Amino acid sequence: MRDASLEATDFNWFNPFDTSYIHDPYPAVARIHATAPVFFYEPLALWIVSKYDDVKTVLKDADTFSSKVFGFLPPPADLAPQVRDFTDHELLLGMDKPEHTALRQPLASLFTHKLVADLEPAVRERAKRLIDGFIADGRCELMSQYSYPLALSTIVDVFGVPADHADLFRGWSDDFMTMLSVRRSPEEEPAAAHPMPPEELREHWTNLLEAKAYFKEYVARLRRAPANDVFSALLALKDTNGNHRVSDASAVVNIPNLIAAGHDTTANLISQTVILLNDNPEQRRALQDDLALVPQAIEEALRMRGSALGNLRRAKRDVVIRGVEIPAGAIVYAMLNGAGMDADQFDKPGTFDLARPNAGQHLAFGFGRHNCIGSQLARMQARVALTELLVRLPDFRLTPSEPITYAPGLPLRFTTSVPLEW
Ligand code: HEM
Repeated sequence: MRDASLEATDFNWFNPFDTSYIHDPYPAVARIHATAPVFFYEPLALWIVSKYDDVKTVLKDADTFSSKVFGFLPPPADLAPQVRDFTDHELLLGMDKPEHTALRQPLASLFTHKLVADLEPAVRERAKRLIDGFIADGRCELMSQYSYPLALSTIVDVFGVPADHADLFRGWSDDFMTMLSVRRSPEEEPAAAHPMPPEELREHWTNLLEAKAYFKEYVARLRRAPANDVFSALLALKDTNGNHRVSDASAVVNIPNLIAAGHDTTANLISQTVILLNDNPEQRRALQDDLALVPQAIEEALRMRGSALGNLRRAKRDVVIRGVEIPAGAIVYAMLNGAGMDADQFDKPGTFDLARPNAGQHLAFGFGRHNCIGSQLARMQARVALTELLVRLPDFRLTPSEPITYAPGLPLRFTTSVPLEW
């Protein structure tokens, strides 16, 4: 057995909120793999599991590793009764079976190949229009002018929410993600990874109160008059007794989560692929010569710079991984980018390689029972977005004088600014 206290001291150099790590996790991942691939990370009080096989084991074994780890930061006392819908209902992401299966199965059944294929022409059209909007400027900020609006408008289409409310959803998604945190034990309230002033906490909860009112009314409207979209289909599903399979309360908390899960991650993927191409000019030339390789470029970006850096679980019993004992109740962080850059799984894992035969084996969309239901939708958008950029702006490059910026986040990567010129 390894000595956990020793490992905690050893890993004080590691800071998952550090911009250099968020930008390029490979140096830190390689060091972790070489020294202690499973270790207790004291600053966040969680066990980090970083090797491909171990990450897969954790995600596959949902009976040992529970997903009930999430909770919202406690709202100010006066707002608490009004936001109960959020705090009392579980998110799909944080459920175990049988509740998880009951909600996931109907939702996943709606994300068909046909849904994705039918959306593609509209995504392409929007990508073209967005580029039309900035091409004459010779520069753009890729996240806010391309990746985000493209991903957000797709998700708005999928879920049938009004397009002119897209900015509202963007804001609420940020509030939602910021308030969602790790519950250290089932009894304990979640705490923020970063200190948060009370007025900031109040502002996020006040916004979420608005979101709740909006989505409550929205769900009621879809119940009265279903439309031709995924949410209407989800709300219409009934069990054999004729009862709705998804309750109003569950829909009100899960709909904003789906909107957030579906666009932030996709926008990050589009921009991270562009950054990798900028940094790998030879691979980029190969891609420009053969656009059929775009899907391969996206798999490599997912492997090296996936939008979800890790998945969180709670060990339901004492468990030993790679000789390290993890106690029952502990929070386990399955490091997805650790899996993607494991030299035992991927040859020269720090290299962006369009010819990599097994790039698609990455775990960037998770694995097992909770794996991503939007992966094909995300891949399609990234493929279209990247192809349009390569065709219309073949000379794009990162603006050297302006930095790429990130907002600290765990487990998601939040790219905030990617200045581009041509
Ligand atoms: C590049 C884009 C995306 C990435 C990297 C990504 C990543 C992930 C990962 C790693 C998980 C597993 C979480 C866990 O096991 O704890 C997940 C779950 C999920 N994703 Fe995605 N995602 C992306 C896009 C999308 C899109 C477009 C949608 C939907 C519209 C979506 C909806 C979901 C949902 C609903 C779950 C929860 C599934 C469950 O708990 O059963 N994601 N995603």
